[in-house]
Amino acid sequence: MQDRDAELIEKVRSLKIERDAVILAHNYQLGEVQDIADFVGDSLELSQRAAETDAAVIVFCGVHFMAETASILCPEKVVLLPDVHAGCPMADMITAERLREKKREHPGALVICYVNSSAEVKAESDICCTSANAVAIVESLDAGEIIFVPDQYLGQYVSARTGRKLILWPGFCPTHARITADRVRELKQEYPRARLVVHPECRPEVIGLADEVLSTGGMCRYARRDDVADMIVGTEIGIIHRLRKENPGKRFIPVSEQAICPNMKSITLEKIVWTLEEMEPEVRVPEEIRVRARAAVDKMLRAGAGRRKKWRGWSYLSP
Ligand code: 13P
Ligand code: SF4
Repeated sequence: MQDRDAELIEKVRSLKIERDAVILAHNYQLGEVQDIADFVGDSLELSQRAAETDAAVIVFCGVHFMAETASILCPEKVVLLPDVHAGCPMADMITAERLREKKREHPGALVICYVNSSAEVKAESDICCTSANAVAIVESLDAGEIIFVPDQYLGQYVSARTGRKLILWPGFCPTHARITADRVRELKQEYPRARLVVHPECRPEVIGLADEVLSTGGMCRYARRDDVADMIVGTEIGIIHRLRKENPGKRFIPVSEQAICPNMKSITLEKIVWTLEEMEPEVRVPEEIRVRARAAVDKMLRAGAGRRKKWRGWSYLSP
């Protein structure tokens, strides 16, 4: 470790105590950021942790929609995003106004929005989902028209898994779009014994080749299995740090070194120190939007608890 990093880590530690802060980091964050976090996880796990924490301040090392979700769940807490420009291009592919237009075209349709969306879009939606629970959420709903936004590839995957026809939005993740079926086929030939695990944001032709299609948290759990030795990993390369750290002796082969999310990588140790010193940039959602977005996020979190209840004439999973 460089002296400079050691100094920054020490500063983060003392500022965390001073501010009563918890650091949550997504699986795609830089290795050094993952290493100083109190918790590293996927979107669902991070929102669950944010909802549970007793800390007064949440430093969210991820992208804007993730910090917004934390603020939607914990309005009484200060949620800091160390780089306010860390956005998600997929989330920016839909606006609340365009979703309202879509809803007018399909009156009565239920709207499921992938958590990779703005608070305004969540506020226009009936229920959220993440890559970890999208199939279960769709399965929990009675048949009827369903609009699924904004990720067309996740939507196509969920539709194939559930046999439900979904009205899709043409959004996609530019980072996962860099993962190609040709490269996957080459790697499968090179490592015939390796399991191919991909994220559901990948293109359908990539998903079609996979042994497992999992959220980033699901990939971390899968890698721990005794019967997994070599794994070809079809997602953003930041996850390789955690996979190797938690599974020494196993081999993890990224499908593409170019599968980098620049927004995720914009959070650095320096920026974490600055954010804790200055207590900004803060992410806060206007109350009128927050309350409506919260309803959609809460339905998703309750769905995770796994018991059935009636909701708006649809059955959904609830505590
Ligand atoms: P996970 O919820 O699987 O971590 O995915 C989040 C994301 O942004 C993937 O690009
Ligand atoms: Fe958004 Fe893709 Fe980055 Fe995930 S990897 S935050 S979907 S741009």
